[in-house]
Amino acid sequence: MVQGKKGQGLNKIARILSGKPSAEDKPIDTSLRPRSLGDFIGQNAVKDNLNIAIAAAKGRGEALDHVLLYGPPGLGKTTLAHIIATEMGSSIRVTSGPAVERTGDLAAILTNLHKQDILFIDEIHRLHRAVEEVLYPAMEDSALDIVIGKGPGAKSLRLNLPTFTLIGATTRFAMLSPPLRDRFGAVYHLDFYDEASIEIILKRSAHILQVEAEAEGLAEVARRARGTPRIANRLLKRVRDYAQVKADGIVTHTVAVEALTRLEVDPMGLDELDRKVLYSIIDKFNGGPVGLDTIAASISEESDAITDIYEPYLLQLGFLERTARGRMATRRAYEHLGRDYEKGKSNQRGLW
Ligand SMILES: Nc1ncnc2c1ncn2[C@@H]1O[C@H](COP(=O)(O)OP(=O)(O)O)[C@@H](O)[C@H]1O
Ligand SMILES: [Mg+2]
Repeated sequence: MVQGKKGQGLNKIARILSGKPSAEDKPIDTSLRPRSLGDFIGQNAVKDNLNIAIAAAKGRGEALDHVLLYGPPGLGKTTLAHIIATEMGSSIRVTSGPAVERTGDLAAILTNLHKQDILFIDEIHRLHRAVEEVLYPAMEDSALDIVIGKGPGAKSLRLNLPTFTLIGATTRFAMLSPPLRDRFGAVYHLDFYDEASIEIILKRSAHILQVEAEAEGLAEVARRARGTPRIANRLLKRVRDYAQVKADGIVTHTVAVEALTRLEVDPMGLDELDRKVLYSIIDKFNGGPVGLDTIAASISEESDAITDIYEPYLLQLGFLERTARGRMATRRAYEHLGRDYEKGKSNQRGLW
């Protein structure tokens, strides 16, 4: 097992249903990563728009407009950035928000770019404000403003940069500053995949990994993969291991159900931590509304993890509602967890 970063409570065990990459994903992420838009399954609206934008930019012999990709982890942002570079025939330079600590770091990256190169900044919402400001003229005018000296004698110098394409990826659209947001020519939102698309992704992965699998086996994995390709691939790997040891290597429906049950991934794709979030809201806070930080504290999780990983899927399932006064568990959540909704709610009325 891989250790969680804080090593506290349940976080000690790396969560199998996290969309975030873990160390064990690295080799599978690379081997299973689609290389062309044709291999990239689902997200048709995004693909169609990208196809047009890429063809048009290539036709004009220009760099592609700056692209912002946002959506929960594991849905294909990094993959798309690389595919865009391949399709444009451009080189890609990869960095991330927290990795660029100083304005000088970014200036160095920018001045080393070549014409029509792609600069991919992952977790772009985590760029420092001062660093971000260097990006504005770079994105708008392909220019780098350098200040030489200090105080009243300081001089500003403008350097021309080659025209390049910035691709930013973020899980938190709302955390991007408006001036940065506005400078992207195209903004694409990646949403959870439908089950059919996840099944196709799993078929492709099973083929690449040479896993023998029956269609119903893959369908079961797809059903529990919370619409996230990275999770689907990770579960497939675990189910394959189980099939190898406990069955004769074939991922059948029964094998998939047994393996996933053992991993405590329930039929809706919830794991122990999702259930903890919901139980906490239902049992400790009468179904809510309750603030995010309070939920986080009550289950010793970080609130960032809740917003990034658990909440989007629970919202999508209609198990959670976000209101001005906090998060609320819905009737569906009560029913899924076998709790009485009416009783839970009458408890709450008793409190007022
Ligand atoms: N549309 C897709 N089709 C097939 N596989 C995909 C797709 N999107 C993502 N994947 C798989 O999921 C993994 C995680 O995708 P990634 O681009 O790293 O997600 P993100 O950057 O959004 O967290 C990839 O390595 C790839 O194997
Ligand atoms: Mg990524």
